[in-house]
Amino acid sequence: MNPIEWVEQGLVPDIIARAGMRRLIRSRLQAPESVDQERRSEAFARFLGELRASPIAVNTADANVQHYEVPAAFFHRHLGPCLKYSCCLYPTGRESLAEAEQQMLALYAERAGLKDGMRIMDLGCGWGSLSLWLAARYPGSEIVGLSNSHGQREFIMGQAAERGLKNLNIITGDVVTFDCPAEGIAGGFDRVMSIEMFEHMKNYGLLLNKISRWLRPEGKLFVHIFAHKLLAYHYEVQDENDWMTQYFFLGGTMPSEHLFAHFQDDLKIARQWWVSGRHYEKTSNHWLAGMDAARDQIMPIFEQAYGGPKQARIWFNRWRMFYMAVAEFFGLDGGNEWGVGHYLFEKR
Ligand SMILES: C[S@@+](CC[C@H](N)C(=O)[O-])C[C@H]1O[C@@H](n2cnc3c(N)ncnc32)[C@H](O)[C@@H]1O
Repeated sequence: MNPIEWVEQGLVPDIIARAGMRRLIRSRLQAPESVDQERRSEAFARFLGELRASPIAVNTADANVQHYEVPAAFFHRHLGPCLKYSCCLYPTGRESLAEAEQQMLALYAERAGLKDGMRIMDLGCGWGSLSLWLAARYPGSEIVGLSNSHGQREFIMGQAAERGLKNLNIITGDVVTFDCPAEGIAGGFDRVMSIEMFEHMKNYGLLLNKISRWLRPEGKLFVHIFAHKLLAYHYEVQDENDWMTQYFFLGGTMPSEHLFAHFQDDLKIARQWWVSGRHYEKTSNHWLAGMDAARDQIMPIFEQAYGGPKQARIWFNRWRMFYMAVAEFFGLDGGNEWGVGHYLFEKR
């Protein structure tokens, strides 16, 4: 068995697994293309060319199955009450997960300049963390959420009905092929908000061109995406150490903080912000603690989803490894390597 299989079998204490992860993460930062500025610049130019030659996204069906078609009951057992499946905000560092969800949602509203009455699209809406929050906070607004996962629409619409929210519509569709007007959805949005969906994309030029056509002349796009401060790369399976790609993030992209400066043909960046990786470290550690606390309820869900008790045990450990790795990536060097970028784009 290789070390990763030992961890998958639950045979390695977390403290050792995390130390091994930190070693692998640092080895990426110490690779020649990361350290040598000439080579990094060459690699970045190559990477930009590859993004520009790609479709809007690749492997969309695989990524969807890996994450978003896992039974929602699993996520209900360990995410926060809003089911926000993205980085939350811990201004004092002492917030609970529920408080940190609210803090980040409120920060989006402030940074995107949201007002009641605006037509707002939540692009890549997950289980509705932002869509439901917006619909409740802005009763005069029309909210449209789009996601390519089938279970998500049903869940969000059920929640909207329970809470008496009538200003929300959720569409199941792939942003690669979806366009407005479609399925009764007109363009003309005041804001498009996209929280941790751009990580699943490749050709940001084509994507931003499409979004620019959905916006009113004064409309704006707000993006929240994780990023590295300098390095941009594809998630690719090259060897057994790339299990995070293999199981969780096929077709994914790690952007660098300033990557979007190269995609401003249709929309231009009005403002950007950096959110310390510390916040994602805390979020992911909260999710991990939630999983451990709900192990007895999660195992039967996994037995059904992954085909029996043996696979359920392995997948429980894989998800644990995933959350530990996220915490270690984003927590590295005080949250100053990987973090989260917020971008506000306006029309040219
Ligand atoms: C990390 S989750 C974030 C969910 C949500 N925005 C949140 O913050 O809780 C990414 C979301 O993007 C959606 N997504 C990924 N690829 C997509 C695609 N090609 N078309 C539409 N939605 C996509 C997934 O279904 C999922 O809902």
